[in-house]
Parts: sequence; structure tokens; C-alpha cells
Amino acid sequence: MRTDSSADPVRSASAPISVLVPTYNEADNIGPLVEALDRAFRGMSYEVVVIDDSSPDGTAQAALNLAERYPVRVVMRPRRLGLSSAVVDGARVAAGDVVVVMDADLQHPPELAPVLAQAVLSGADLAVGTRYKRGGGVEGWSISRLFMSKTAAILAKLLLPEARPLSDPESGFFATRKSCLSSIKPTGLYKILLDVVVQCKPSRVVEVPYIFRPRRAGRSKLGFGHIADYLAQLLRLSGWRPFKFAAVGASGIGVAEAILYALREVDYPIAAALAIEVSLTTNFVLNRAWTFRDRAIPWLKGWLKYHAANFAGAAANYLVSNALVLAGTSRYLAYFLGVLAGFAANYLLSELYVFGRDKA
Ligand code: GDD
Ligand code: MN
Repeated sequence: MRTDSSADPVRSASAPISVLVPTYNEADNIGPLVEALDRAFRGMSYEVVVIDDSSPDGTAQAALNLAERYPVRVVMRPRRLGLSSAVVDGARVAAGDVVVVMDADLQHPPELAPVLAQAVLSGADLAVGTRYKRGGGVEGWSISRLFMSKTAAILAKLLLPEARPLSDPESGFFATRKSCLSSIKPTGLYKILLDVVVQCKPSRVVEVPYIFRPRRAGRSKLGFGHIADYLAQLLRLSGWRPFKFAAVGASGIGVAEAILYALREVDYPIAAALAIEVSLTTNFVLNRAWTFRDRAIPWLKGWLKYHAANFAGAAANYLVSNALVLAGTSRYLAYFLGVLAGFAANYLLSELYVFGRDKA
């Protein structure tokens, strides 16, 4: 007799869905979570992998007790090493080829775990639970917490083009393939999804809205110290792009000042126009080859876009520095001050326009 599982051997009972749950002091939550997952996955093959960092409240023992009645396994780590690396360690031992990542505190609705897993089984590379799409939301958040969360998302989208398609790039509730998650090197303590989108480059992404509820018990492990960790993670994942961009800009000032010096017999308005044009071009070449080398944009189109994007900054520089020279400032200092006037606008336009993703 033909059964459903024999029709699709890869997804038969031998390849369960692995739900990865990092825990630190979640002894009161792990039982209700596992029970809710068991109801949600009824009739499906699944396992729960709890990755516990030696929680002093005995979470690991609570999970081991659950293993007598439910498909629960426990990975024990010697000390608190962070959510992100816990999830990767869990993925390494996962039995299934589809993994779901979620918190232990029931802030992520267990009934959606099979929905995320199913999206990956049906061909998605990544399925993300999102708070910021119609049907999703947060419960019980202060305005300031919402503001922090939104600001974090905007920063991620600004620095990481891979995060731009996601409405909730900070989400800690998602499903992907084991092969992706187990190969990741975490670049931060908490935001493993950013590592997933940058390091695995999923092409088919599905979003599933959910309501982020208040914690069932215990306290959040996210503190103010994590903000610095988060910013460092964004910079690492971006390949330190803002610093590279600044270094290229500094080299451009050197090029321009050298031209002003070489043309010291030429009137400032003409010398400055040449200095600006040549340094714009050397900046573009260096940014294309280094700062944004992962984004192959065409030479001529890029050069023209770079001019368009820098027009405001260059014009500001030109006007400010000419005025300063007329007022008696040395041309070298005037040029430098002019550059400062145009810098902020240039950076924003380059990130969002010149080196933004080409759809072709
Ligand atoms: N193993 C391990 N090690 N687990 C940890 C650690 C750690 O160092 N730190 C936290 N956890 C566990 C918690 O026990 C919990 O199960 C889960 O990771 C999330 O921690 P919370 O303290 O509940 O974080 P949160 O609710 O503020 O934020 C979570 O949800 C957000 C929205 O999806 C995180 O997943 C965020 O990254 C996410 O943005
Ligand atoms: Mn939580």
C-alpha cells in the first residue's frame, strides 16, 4: 500500500522539522512552549532542540524532564554565549533539513512554527515571522521601545541591502534550511537573522505576520549593552562600509588639494572645478573597486549616477569654498571646509541611490 510518506521520501518521518529554542533562565516557560509546539505539530514529524547556556534556574533539567514525553533534545553549553551562537550550535545537531528558530518565552506564537516550516518545505529559502506587516504587531510596548525597534530596522536596511526586502529584519522567529543556519559564523550576540540574510543570501523569502506578545514569565535578556553589540554587528556585516567610504573621501581630498597646488597659478574658481571633477572620479573608481565591490554596477552608468548623487555636495563645496577664498581664506583650507559642507549629503545619496541594488 502506498502511503503519503513513501511518495516523498526526503520529507518522510525520518526528516523531522527541527525547532531550535535558545534558552537562558526559561525554566517556567519551556514546558508550556513544548506542549504548545506538540499541539501545533500534531501529525507531523518534528523535534525541539533546546540550547541552554547553563541557566542557573535549571532550564536544562526542566527540558530533560520534558524529553521523557516529547521529542525534545537538549544541547548544554558551559556558560552564557549568546542567542546567535546557540541557534547555530542547535542547527548543527538538528535532525531535519528544515529548522525553525524561536524564543522560549511564548512571545513567538507556537502555532505559526509549522506555517514557517511549511513555507520552506514548499520551496522558500527563508520564512520570517514579521511584526511589521498587516496582521502583525506588538502588544504592550511603550512608544520608546517601538521607536528603538523601528530605528534598528531602518539602520539595518540602510547598511545591508540584503535586509531591505524584509519588513522585520530584527525578527527572532523564522525558518530556513539546516544547511544555511549550521554554516553561519555569528557576527553578533542576538540578531541571527541578519547573519542569515547576509551569509546565506536567500532568494525566495516569505513573510508571515504575527503578534509579538508580552513574555509569559521571566525577564527579557536584551539589555542596553546589546545596542553596542548590534551596531558593531551591522558594521561587521556591512564590511565596515561607512569607514571605507570615509577613507576614500579622505583620499579624494588629498587628490583635490594636490590639484589646487599644481594649479596654484590658476584662478581658484577654475582650479577648484577641476579639483572637484578629478577627485569625484578617483573617489568613484575606489568606491566601486573597494567600498562597494560586492555590487557590480556598470562603469559609465555608475559614474554618471555618482555625479548626480554628489551634485549637491559638490555644488555646496564649490560655493562655500569660493566664498571663503573671496573672504581671504587660503584655498587649501577653503577647499577642506567646502568638502565638510557637502559630505553628509553625499554619503546618504550614495548609500541609497548610486550603490543601491540594481534590479536588472
Ligand atoms: N542559549 C542562550 N544564550 N539563549 C539566550 C541567550 C544566551 O546568551 N540570551 C537570550 N537567550 C534566549 C532567551 O532565553 C529566549 O528564549 C530567547 O533567547 C530570546 O531572548 P529574550 O530575552 O526573550 O529576547 P527578546 O524577547 O527581548 O527579543 C527576542 O525577540 C525579538 C523579536 O523577534 C529576540 O529573539 C530578538 O532577537 C528579536 O528581535
Ligand atoms: Mn522574548
